[in-house]
Amino acid sequence: MEALVYHGAGKSAWEKVADPELVDPTDVVVEVLATTICGTDLHILKGDVPETKPGTILGHEAVGRVVEAGAGVRSVSVGDRVLVSCVSPCGQCRYCREQAYGQCLNGGGWVLGHLINGTQAAYVRVPFADLAVHPLPSGVDSAEAVLLSDIFPTSYEVGVLNGGVRPGDTVVIVGAGPIGLAAAATAKLYSPGRIIAVDLADSRLEAARRLGADVVVRADENPEDLVRELTGGLGADVVMEAVGVPDTFELCTRLVRAGGTVANVGVHGKPVTLHLEDLWIKNVTIRTGLVDTYSTPVLLDMLAAGKLPVAELATHRFRLDQIEEAYDVFGRSAETGALKVILTAGS
Ligand SMILES: NC(=O)c1ccc[n+]([C@@H]2O[C@H](COP(=O)([O-])OP(=O)(O)OC[C@H]3O[C@@H](n4cnc5c(N)ncnc54)[C@H](O)[C@@H]3O)[C@@H](O)[C@H]2O)c1
Ligand SMILES: [Zn+2]
Ligand SMILES: [Zn+2]
Repeated sequence: MEALVYHGAGKSAWEKVADPELVDPTDVVVEVLATTICGTDLHILKGDVPETKPGTILGHEAVGRVVEAGAGVRSVSVGDRVLVSCVSPCGQCRYCREQAYGQCLNGGGWVLGHLINGTQAAYVRVPFADLAVHPLPSGVDSAEAVLLSDIFPTSYEVGVLNGGVRPGDTVVIVGAGPIGLAAAATAKLYSPGRIIAVDLADSRLEAARRLGADVVVRADENPEDLVRELTGGLGADVVMEAVGVPDTFELCTRLVRAGGTVANVGVHGKPVTLHLEDLWIKNVTIRTGLVDTYSTPVLLDMLAAGKLPVAELATHRFRLDQIEEAYDVFGRSAETGALKVILTAGS
């Protein structure tokens, strides 16, 4: 088969590799019908994720068809169309029993396209299939459902639920990439009073408006004053960090009101200063997290009911074998306006 193989910092290629095979009885092999590229794949390509070894096939998002199933797999059968979750839970360990699947202790968690071969390929072996893949109802489109592998559960669990969004809240989302935008869309489900999106790119702020932000502001045009003005001087009830750099995390801690919550979603590669000299008196809660994907079944129901704006987020479409071009378009998102680029098998 062909796949996108990581060859060390700055290097990858779409090339011929061996077909995957079942290894453990709890595995399935899935023929990929749709996959996509995540900001985290760009982090890996930059060399920011040293545990991903050269030779690894990238990608942790897919919809596909089960073509082989190990003898121990109970929840799906050969022929089923499934969503492949970005997290593969063993289901047995202490954390999996608490649905903290991202913290799996038995070789599960986020492994696809990270520690083992991933989904940017014609076929992928998925371990711990009983919980790692979800059968799809026939009415949902593969190219839309693929947004539930990672970005929707991440935004919803680590942003909206960890943030504790409630009716009437002022919610600020710093970073309007796919994650921040999906956070805006799922925060809306809780009837916040207003959603304020902060970004540096005008194209992303326009997208935030389309996906439900009531107010948008450039990060370099004093979002602190605006939030203070809109909240009678208090600050925001919930602030989500969806960028992953020190400046934006510190901005979040200045935007939150006393008693409010900062939900950090961004992946950080550098140390960040926690200004306890200002925060100690403010009763704030700071949450961090890796996606667990415990919310995927609920999100799939919402998708099937037409309640998630998936089509708005899928801005570009390519064939799987055009993936190098798709990486280029996704990597230059400020110019191309790309949010999620969807790759589908066949013509
Ligand atoms: N916690 C998790 O489980 C998890 C899962 C998936 C992704 N992530 C992380 O979430 C973050 C967002 O993901 P994404 O795919 O939307 O990334 P992205 O790079 O597409 O979007 C980031 C956005 O932040 C904006 N930005 C950059 N610098 C800024 C600044 N100083 N102020 C305001 N905005 C700024 C960019 O213009 C862009 O729109 C990334 O760090 C990603 O690695 C976390
Ligand atoms: Zn991802
Ligand atoms: Zn586990």
